[in-house]
Amino acid sequence: MKTSMLQGAKIVSTGSATPSIKVSNEQISSIVETSDEWIFTRTGIKERRILTEYGHSVTNLAVEAALQAITEVSMNPADIDLLILATSSPNDLFGSASSVQNQIGAINALAFDLTAACSGFVIGLVTAAQFIFNGTYKNVLVIGADVLSKWVDWSDRSTCILFGDAAGAVILQSCSINSNSILNFHLKTDGNYTDYLSIAYKENLTPHPILNLYQGSFKYISMNGKEVYKFAVSQVPLSIISCLKDIKMSINDIDWLLLHQANERILIAVAEKLAISRDKIISNLSEYGNTSAASIPLALNEVVKLNKISNDDIIVIAGFGAGLTWGTIILRW
Ligand code: UT7
Repeated sequence: MKTSMLQGAKIVSTGSATPSIKVSNEQISSIVETSDEWIFTRTGIKERRILTEYGHSVTNLAVEAALQAITEVSMNPADIDLLILATSSPNDLFGSASSVQNQIGAINALAFDLTAACSGFVIGLVTAAQFIFNGTYKNVLVIGADVLSKWVDWSDRSTCILFGDAAGAVILQSCSINSNSILNFHLKTDGNYTDYLSIAYKENLTPHPILNLYQGSFKYISMNGKEVYKFAVSQVPLSIISCLKDIKMSINDIDWLLLHQANERILIAVAEKLAISRDKIISNLSEYGNTSAASIPLALNEVVKLNKISNDDIIVIAGFGAGLTWGTIILRW
């Protein structure tokens, strides 16, 4: 992290939201040829939440999570300077952040979407931190929210078992440099593998009859699960090691490992590669599945609300996914 800092940044509150409708592995087994046993042993997932209300979208979950974080610190929404909505499932391709801004009354906040799939929250938090470090803003609301249930092909057993809908939010606030909690970050993209995980825009085969222009529409999620798995277990440990090394920290300094909740086997494999004991892994996959950009702030909010995290604990956060893009943040709580 090569940043000239005028101010430090720290997370002062968290929030999350999930739809009430639970879908169990048994229910999925009635839709596609699979079983609770296969899903649980390969992924660690037991159930996921899906947004079923007509007219509801990612903004409903994002608003609920944001209001929870705002209420927790009794903040006036008008004091939020910037709102970043990390999502890859907006309900408006021009962006959904402005709708969230309007609904929560963050009237003074610049609001924009950030599209980086499962790494969206990590990149959103790093982006927010830059605006705080350089003194531009004091209060930034970062939301990770996705409703991939709307983008999944429910007849494709290789993907539909994995995803769930959720939102998580944090308020990142300026503080003295000595109290800064974003100790370091490391972000990477390898566009060679963009096809491994995508929701592609596909053009129609026939063009517009007069303009000769090809229009189309977005298709369902497609994923090369095996390759994404291999990428995650090889690159995430390297990213974490390099991030720690930069600031002369070691694996022994880590109190909590908070990875993107994609697959329990990935969490365990990464922890084993780094020789981090399993009781330091934060996981809520069994209840929520892979909630994309929401997975890290959702799990963070859960452990914070359970008072598991103590002051000064070192949390290593790492996201990975489509792009392929991945990244680590070292956080002092
Ligand atoms: O959030 C973004 C990041 N995403 C990820 O990190 C996902 C990473 N990948 C994974 O988590 C895993 O690759 C999966 C959970 C998606 C798949 O697990 P896998 O152990 O890699 O299974 P596979 O794709 O190699 O499939 C093994 C077998 C195949 O059958 P054959 O060819 O061996 O006869 C599949 O057809 O399992 C079959 N299969 C299923 N069987 C029952 C695939 N999906 C299912 C299913 N139920 N749902």
